[in-house]
Amino acid sequence: MEEINHVAVLDFGSQYTQLIVRRVRELGCFAKLYQPENLSEIGKPGAIILSGGPSSTSDEDAPDIDFDLLKSYQVPVLGVCYGMQLLNIKFGGSVKSSKHREYGQAGLFPVVTEGLYADISAESQVWMSHSDTVDHLADNCKIIAKNQHGTPVSLQWGETFYGIQFHPEVTHSHEGTQILKNFLNTCGELAEFKIEDFKQELIEGIRQKCGDKQVVCGVSGGVDSTVLAVLLNEAGVNVQAIYVDQGLMRKNETAEVEANFKRMGVPITVVDASERFLTALAGEADPEKKRKIIGNMFIDVFWDAVGNAEMLAQGTLYPDVIESASNENSKASTIKTHHNRVDRILEMQKEGKVLEPLAELFKDEVRELGATMGIDADILNRHPFPGPGLAVRCPGDLTKEKLDIIRDCDAIFIEELKSSGWYEKTWQAYAGLIPVKTVGVKGDERSYEFATNLRAVISEDAMTADWVDLPTPLLRKVSSRILNEVDGINRVLYDISSKPPASIEWE
Ligand code: XMP
Repeated sequence: MEEINHVAVLDFGSQYTQLIVRRVRELGCFAKLYQPENLSEIGKPGAIILSGGPSSTSDEDAPDIDFDLLKSYQVPVLGVCYGMQLLNIKFGGSVKSSKHREYGQAGLFPVVTEGLYADISAESQVWMSHSDTVDHLADNCKIIAKNQHGTPVSLQWGETFYGIQFHPEVTHSHEGTQILKNFLNTCGELAEFKIEDFKQELIEGIRQKCGDKQVVCGVSGGVDSTVLAVLLNEAGVNVQAIYVDQGLMRKNETAEVEANFKRMGVPITVVDASERFLTALAGEADPEKKRKIIGNMFIDVFWDAVGNAEMLAQGTLYPDVIESASNENSKASTIKTHHNRVDRILEMQKEGKVLEPLAELFKDEVRELGATMGIDADILNRHPFPGPGLAVRCPGDLTKEKLDIIRDCDAIFIEELKSSGWYEKTWQAYAGLIPVKTVGVKGDERSYEFATNLRAVISEDAMTADWVDLPTPLLRKVSSRILNEVDGINRVLYDISSKPPASIEWE
């Protein structure tokens, strides 16, 4: 890809660096991430952004920058957080370091109304995470914004060097995107970001890394793994998708995934391990033990299918990278770690045999990429589905009978959500089983059957969620269909619990 006039983002180690890249892309400009020590390899950029980072500029091994080289590019430069402190020092100012990090919201009060702060409110909220603060300013430096205490939080050196103490890339900085846009507006014409070009770049990287080696990738039918497999196929590498059916998938799901892959021309191996999983799970009611059995068996079955493949591709996304680095305790990250970072993968990684082409992307960008490859909107807009499948929607021990009941209830619920237009408006929805039998009347006879719980939530990142206020006629229709069409259910409940304190799944 032509790298003329792109935005070069230098990574000083902040966990938000990739978010800067993403925001710049959202603003329509092509951005690329580099390590500061590779400053000489950034081609002909149109702008340079120095990211934040965990270090203090006074640390012995604090990351540095070749300032003469930086200036030699003669393009506008924006230093964010650590990047600003570093610029301040390079221009001859000084920085007060502190052992305490200041986190959280702060007020932003621009001193100027042009340049970085054109169209920015006289007072707005920004988000900070820093330990260093500005002490002395260099001669050519002017303060362009302060916080609520009057402390300088944004500086300008000469005409084209800017610094901001806060993080404009996070949504808690309410006008952060506009500030980034204003910075980009101070630059000349910048290279445009087009997902098609980006795809081409990914494809070239994949070809270089894989050559004619055999590449396998695990697929679940979800967005990430599907986009990955289709991308590998489009790159023309020798790819084999592997799908493990643990007997915990939804109604017709395995057949649909297989048909979709065949239609898209991606070779797929379906491993039917349902008997094996259900036998291992029989009689086990403890949620964590169930998870463990499923996780371990999945790994065994998957690696048996992988055999001696030379390369392994994974659909790891940027938030997964961040999450495993920063939040080892979250359930999702533990599970993903379980699957994506087991010893054998670590070994393969060391040998350069693991490929994670989507690791720079966010979910919506993956969807956009998938759309350019003709993947059905139905697949791209699928709700998330947990790795352990229906097991986490069926408290207590699992039987095929219970799982079949869930499959039937869930299929009706999802069908009705889709036909009423509510599927797209919910973040995740499903029917589960409440493994308690209650008395009812079906026809003229007493029934003694299970209940199903319907759950529909909205969420941004699964960390918090709220239940969806579905219209009563829709709930009425779903309930009536389930009670009439599904054997084994005589009660339908709607789950009106938010997360927290509840979770999205039941286990
Ligand atoms: P909870 O139930 O924790 O779910 O509110 C949050 C999100 O994570 C999904 N989830 C899982 N995904 N393995 C996964 O891959 C798991 O064990 C797992 N448990 C929950 C869940 O579907 C929701 O999107």
